Amino acid sequence: MKAGIAFLASLATLAISLAAHAAPQAGDVTAGKAAFAACASCHQVGTGARHAFGPRLDGVIGRRAGTQAGFNYSPAMRKSEIVWSPSTLAAYIRHPDEVVPGTSMRFSGWAYSEQKLADLFAYLQTFP
Ligand code: HEC
Repeated sequence: MKAGIAFLASLATLAISLAAHAAPQAGDVTAGKAAFAACASCHQVGTGARHAFGPRLDGVIGRRAGTQAGFNYSPAMRKSEIVWSPSTLAAYIRHPDEVVPGTSMRFSGWAYSEQKLADLFAYLQTFP
């Protein structure tokens, strides 16, 4: 019986360490809001958000790229077949032209840390 409990406890420890390894860093919404300032000159989110120089970003995580009505995407974005997830979005923000060659987004966050991106995504996810 004791051995059984010890075995279960070690399984639990293993599961926790695996989860900690696989889980993305937890993002901080307040820090993410500050990070979004770099996007806000072109993108809107939240109540009443509209397409501006860039498309509105409400509900962006999980959406297929280049598919919102009323925004004039580049042909490259429309054809990209990307679905925005934390990993595809991270790659695009860091190197837009490499991920979507020919994109009209003139911005590069190549120096963004994993933490800054996680914060940004936590903030974006508050706008489903
Ligand atoms: C200088 C203006 C500008 C800035 C700054 C900018 N973007 Fe963009 N963004 C655009 C434009 C223009 C597009 C449309 C690109 C295309 O069609 O190729 C776009 C497209 C996107 C898309 C694709 C949306 C969709 O509906 O598929 C995402 C996601 C995105 N931007 C995120 C960001 C984030 C996050 C930031 C800040 C870290 C940012 N952008 C900063 C102009 C900008």
